[in-house]
Amino acid sequence: MKLFLDTANLEQIKQGVKWGVSGVTTNPTLVAAEGVGDYKTLVRAICDIVPGEVSAEVTVEGAAAMIAQGREIAAWHDNVVVKVPCTPDGFEVASQLGNDGIKVNMTLCFSASQALLAALCGAYFISPFMGRLDDIGQDGLDLLAEIVDIYDKGSLETRVLAASVRHPGHVLQAASLGAYAATIPFKVLEQLARHPLTDSGNARFLADWHGRAAKKA
Ligand code: E4P
Repeated sequence: MKLFLDTANLEQIKQGVKWGVSGVTTNPTLVAAEGVGDYKTLVRAICDIVPGEVSAEVTVEGAAAMIAQGREIAAWHDNVVVKVPCTPDGFEVASQLGNDGIKVNMTLCFSASQALLAALCGAYFISPFMGRLDDIGQDGLDLLAEIVDIYDKGSLETRVLAASVRHPGHVLQAASLGAYAATIPFKVLEQLARHPLTDSGNARFLADWHGRAAKKA
């Protein structure tokens, strides 16, 4: 399974690549958090850092406007995937952009029926939001499992990108279900890397090593 970072912060992305991250997802909230800079410049800068796909979301409403903006975003870089919400307009946009040969990531997916439609519209990625379902007392894992099963049984080629990831458990659950990738906040990436017993064990090894050097001297 691949790991993507869910951020538009260039420093986090540079560090993430050093820890095995191969793609990035952004959304309007994450881009806005980075300040008032130019959207295209920011997305291109991200593409210059990561080797894999970078999702950039449309920021307009109405199918015609979304299609026009999606075509524009797709032209920013070869690795850009256009992110489109799982709305009635969004499915139409995914079909049209797919016919143009543009990769689409259908985002804000909260049901298996939306995931089925996304696949039938030719979406490249489907992004089920695990954390936001957990937040309202439903189980994001159940949705992920249902989508993986439907796609497997129907030989549907859309890649499952586990999103709205809140903790390392979500990442491991996505991996064991066979999701193509999980997109995670930088905080969760750091949590994946650390274990308190590794830190204390390493501190002890180094202390013993330096103690030995001191004894020799
Ligand atoms: C995915 O592409 C989204 O940007 C993201 O995972 C949303 O997560 P959130 O629920 O933490 O905002």
